[in-house]
Amino acid sequence: MTSKIAVSNQKGGVGKTTTTINVAGALANQGQDVLLVDLDPQGHATEGLGLADVYESSEPHLGSALATIDEVPNISDIVYSQDEFDVVPANVDMFTLETDLTGAMRSRERLQLLFDALDYDYDFVVVDCPPSLGHLTDNALLACQNVLIPALAEGTSIRALEILYDQIESIEQGYDLQINELGLVANRVEHDGEAAEMMDWFDDTFGDQLPVWEIRKRVALKRAWNNGVSIFAHEEDSDMEAEFAQIATHLEEVA
Ligand SMILES: Nc1ncnc2c1ncn2[C@@H]1O[C@H](COP(=O)(O)OP(=O)(O)OP(=O)(O)O)[C@@H](O)[C@H]1O
Ligand SMILES: [Mg+2]
Repeated sequence: MTSKIAVSNQKGGVGKTTTTINVAGALANQGQDVLLVDLDPQGHATEGLGLADVYESSEPHLGSALATIDEVPNISDIVYSQDEFDVVPANVDMFTLETDLTGAMRSRERLQLLFDALDYDYDFVVVDCPPSLGHLTDNALLACQNVLIPALAEGTSIRALEILYDQIESIEQGYDLQINELGLVANRVEHDGEAAEMMDWFDDTFGDQLPVWEIRKRVALKRAWNNGVSIFAHEEDSDMEAEFAQIATHLEEVA
């Protein structure tokens, strides 16, 4: 059984891509076979992982694969092998998908159909979501039925999390299924008053049901990204490896 995880928060710049790359790297480092799917039309993970050329390439790509259901494409045709894990890159054409999927048949089930057609058994699939609530994020939530939530340790996260939880609930009701919240990744935490207050709020609000991890603001995370790898494959040591390893261990237990 492949465990699939959507890394989602519709608020922009909270660390979805950083979390996706480093959780995928941590899982791979622990011996798991991992596929990272870049579902964000911005293609940040794709570019970060050194696949900028593919982002601009012609079909077949993830955008064309999601745009049709007449003939489910073989997702293996759009998988790129990297040293740490495999990647399904985003494509610039994906910017029109939100519009194209509106009113289309099974518009929220496209990614699930692609996953069903995967002919290789990964241990984990990790999906980087766009900073919006729309068809693409719905596709990720429905296809994965597991969500890992990155959020900044600042007041604006409260409303963002309420909105995300409402969306998760609406998919659960619409499709009569359960989506598991796997944990909250408080990201880019700096030790100041607001962050400390928010960490307390996260613990009070979620601590009984979910693990709350703390990823500090670290330039090593940016440098690894700029080198096309997770911190686990980056030459520089970082204290955040231990935190991402803990997240991976938890995912191995529950996802
Ligand atoms: N823990 C961290 N330490 C230092 N820099 C970080 C950290 N987390 C994220 N960043 C930086 O902050 C910026 C936003 O992070 P990231 O791209 O992961 O967020 P995102 O939620 O994926 O953004 P978007 O909503 O645009 O997809 C990036 O430049 C990233 O390198
Ligand atoms: Mg991103």
